[in-house]
Amino acid sequence: MGVIFLSILIFFLSLLWYISLKRDKKAAIRDGTKLPPGSLGWPYIGETLQLYSQHPDFFFAAKQKRYGEIFKTHILGCPCVMLASPEAARFVLVTQAHLFKPTYPKSKELLIGPSALFFHQGDYHCRLRKLVQNSLSLDSIRTLVPDIDSVAASALDSWATSEVINTFHEMKKISFEVGILTIFGHLEAAYKDDLKKNYSILDAGYNSFPTNIPGTPYKKALSARKRLSKILGDIIHERGERRLREKDLLGSLLNSIDDECEVKISDSQIADNIIGVLFAAQDTTASVMTWIVKYLHDQPKLLQSLKAEQEEILKLNSENNQGLNWVQTRNMPITYKMVLESLRMASIISYTFREAVADVEYKGYLIPKGWKVMPLFRNIHHSPEYFPDPHNFDPSRFEVAPKPYTFMPFGSGVHACPGNELAKLEILIMIHHLVTKFRWELVGSQNGVQHSPFPVPFQGLPARFWKIAH
Ligand code: HEM
Ligand SMILES: *[C@@H]1O[C@H](CO)[C@@H](O)[C@H](O)[C@H]1NC(C)=O
Repeated sequence: MGVIFLSILIFFLSLLWYISLKRDKKAAIRDGTKLPPGSLGWPYIGETLQLYSQHPDFFFAAKQKRYGEIFKTHILGCPCVMLASPEAARFVLVTQAHLFKPTYPKSKELLIGPSALFFHQGDYHCRLRKLVQNSLSLDSIRTLVPDIDSVAASALDSWATSEVINTFHEMKKISFEVGILTIFGHLEAAYKDDLKKNYSILDAGYNSFPTNIPGTPYKKALSARKRLSKILGDIIHERGERRLREKDLLGSLLNSIDDECEVKISDSQIADNIIGVLFAAQDTTASVMTWIVKYLHDQPKLLQSLKAEQEEILKLNSENNQGLNWVQTRNMPITYKMVLESLRMASIISYTFREAVADVEYKGYLIPKGWKVMPLFRNIHHSPEYFPDPHNFDPSRFEVAPKPYTFMPFGSGVHACPGNELAKLEILIMIHHLVTKFRWELVGSQNGVQHSPFPVPFQGLPARFWKIAH
């Protein structure tokens, strides 16, 4: 009985798939264009199994070698076109960005909040983005240096117990605190604690199978999301009563309500965007910082050169009895190039997804309306054409600026990362403390990669840290 039902289901899905492909092919012939090269694999499951049964790098690299800069495939039930050249990435993300809308699974949109800016296009996106960008501008984040400095210093101090820690988990605590600082400024400890606990439940359910069955991680995450809205509502209410005009993200979202010529931003839109920014900020920054601990461990000479640069700053600051300041963070040339090379090497956002909102032609190929489009950042970052000897970790390659659209760790165009300067600032400050005050040792298997969903060293890079005597 079950088998018959399954066979019928598979038959109908295949039929649907076949019909839609025929339609796309017909459209291509009508326009005198053709679909990009590539294979679509089995009906429905497409090439999903191939993608998930091997390291994704191999999947994409093999495709690119065989078909070139643009090819079609079929993953997770969607036909898609992958693009692996700077030119194509620019086309999708910048010059023709209006033809490609952001696209995320519905289940994830519900967890974050459907009004978060990165799900949107057009006027709403533009308005929210300006507010978010404001609170993450150089002028805003320079005021955060002393706070980020103390978050990083005390987090690192807490690791120096000679016990094995999960580096990624610990880095997530830092990036969460910095996220909270940027969004709320100084937040009452009780609120922070409630946010932290409930957010970690949301985080744990984000990559689990979406289902409404009680007790599952996804369902628990949905409930935590409701409690988060309540907590954020309380914080907003309290600020409203005190009529504070802060310059942090919450402040800029709330102040925009006062602007009477525009439609108000509702509390639930504010909540969705706050959770959205926390989400965009936490795992990304933490996984880059984790890779940096590994890269520095693996390359003692590189560590020495960063140490020399950072110790000079520390020495000066100790003499003057002061902490790290903004100007110093803008003048760490050796460390900064190492950070750029880490962003390239780790390429933690390996690709992004868009969806064509109309039939689009690119270099004689048709990208049919409704197909997914994936600019492959990682392939571009690891191509010998733009980065000679790409698997060699070499910060000096950043002595000259990379060619346009060949280096996009923070994406490009209308959805490019507004948090990129904050992320780099936080990473530099973390490195300052790491290399001047600690030595560390990695524990266990050291070369695996785990996808969570960003690439992170295997098991979050278990390590031991010690304070070094000065
Ligand atoms: C090293 C750390 C980070 C990396 C590698 C990173 C990378 C990216 C990338 C590639 C995008 C574009 C995605 C796309 O086009 O589909 C993006 C968007 C975004 N990032 Fe980041 N990010 C980082 C840290 C942060 C931080 C610290 C924040 C905020 C405090 C942040 C907030 C955002 C937001 C709000 C967006 C959506 C922008 C929009 O849709 O207009 N990110 N990020
Ligand atoms: C979540 O938030 C609520 C407040 O809405 C709080 O009472 C609770 O302790 C928080 N923590 C957890 C783990 O649910």
